[in-house]
Order: sequence, then structure tokens, then C-alpha cells
Amino acid sequence: MPVESAVSSRLPSVHIAPSVMCADLCNLESDIRELETAGIDMLHFDLMDAHFVPNMPIGLALIQQLRPKTDCAFDIHLMVENNDFFVDAVAEIGVQQIAVHVESATHLDRTLSLIQAHGIKAGAALNPATPLSALGYVLERLDFVLIMTVNPGFAGQKLVPSTLRKIAECRAFLSEHGADLPIEVDGNVSFENIPKMVSAGADILVGGTSSVFQKSGSRLENVQRAQKAIKLGLAGRESF
Ligand code: DX5
Ligand code: ZN
Repeated sequence: MPVESAVSSRLPSVHIAPSVMCADLCNLESDIRELETAGIDMLHFDLMDAHFVPNMPIGLALIQQLRPKTDCAFDIHLMVENNDFFVDAVAEIGVQQIAVHVESATHLDRTLSLIQAHGIKAGAALNPATPLSALGYVLERLDFVLIMTVNPGFAGQKLVPSTLRKIAECRAFLSEHGADLPIEVDGNVSFENIPKMVSAGADILVGGTSSVFQKSGSRLENVQRAQKAIKLGLAGRESF
């Protein structure tokens, strides 16, 4: 039976959301200007509390200070134990979507409802080992799904191979339940992995150290290279 999801359907095009923790944090404003010039309109912020994951790359103050400096959509990825606290805090700042980890949400349905009550798109994030069935009873509360293709907490890791299959299985799972929601993928979104991720069904790509922020190219060159890789993946969807 089709599920009434809050969002109509998938995005018309594949989005790149650069992961701000991978940016030049000492020259962040100019880095974001370069990304905007390259056509980026969404930024991914990894909020970690050093408890759910053993890291804390950026904080609330950085998001708050950046908010008035860019019109980019803010895509918040919470890797924290106290999800509701951070949901309210970033809602206050002004963000467009928030993903919470099913593994950290004691009351997942309530937290997703809280996000939507703020008028913000709600997403469930799944670690590589977490089965898709964890989404089964919250589809009505979802606007997107975040599939972690690395174990959360650190940039620069290698893709967990089984997650490519998981993206395709997530696309099938959502379609079977009449919830044709956007799938965001996060972790080692490299120029080599992008075509496979997109052909498997990814709609939002978190660009980090292996693509957008790769040292070998400028931000513009890297975004253009990622866009070429997306085109390859879309062609692959036709034949998927
Ligand atoms: C890791 C974060 C990712 C990370 C991506 O937990 O969620 O956004 O910054 O970095 P790369 O692309 O280097 O894996
Ligand atoms: Zn992330």
C-alpha cells in the first residue's frame, strides 16, 4: 500500500553536497564562494558529539556564523546521542534538511516528527551494517534516506563494498513501499564511485576528500569532474 511520504518524489537531478568538514576551515568563506561559483547549492554539515562517533570536526557556532553568508541549502548530518537537542539548535539557525542515525535515536519516530514539525526535511541515516528494515515503520516520517557508504565519524575512508548493493536495494525497498524518496550517500564519494552510486539510485552525493576536496584539482575542476561522473551514472541507470 503506497505510503504517504512528506515529499512528492525523487529530485529532478543529482545533487552534490560538499562536506564542510573536508573544506579549508581556516578559509571557509572563500572556499564556499568557490563552491557556489562552481554551481553548488547545498552544503553538508557533519555534527558529531565525540560520543556516538569519536570525533568532533565542526560545531554549532560554525553553522551559525555561516548561515547569513550563503544561500546554499544546509544539509545537517547528526552523529550525536542527543538528537532532539541538536535538531532544535540547528532549526533555530535555519537549515533545510536533517538526517538522524537510526542507531542513535532512542525515539526515532518522535525525532523525525520533531524535524518535520520545524518545517525541515527529515532523513534517517543508516550505518553500513544497519539493515533497510530499520526504515520500515517510519517511512511516513521521511523526506529522504542517508546511506552511509563508510563507517561514520571520519573523512578519507574507503567505501564499504556492500553499500553499493545497499543503495540499489534501498531504491527497490522505497519503490516497493510507494515511497520514492531521495537517497543521499555519504563517504568516499569518489570520481570512480560516483557512477556506480548514481546508477544504483543515489540522488544526493556528499562530496568529500575523494572528489570535491581532492587536492589535485581546484574546487571548480573537481565539481565539473564529479558532474561528468554523475552523467556516466545516469546513463548507467537507463541500462540498470
Ligand atoms: C563522515 C562524514 C562524511 C565525510 C565524507 O562521517 O559523514 O561527510 O566527511 O568524507 P569522505 O568523502 O572523505 O569520505
Ligand atoms: Zn556526513
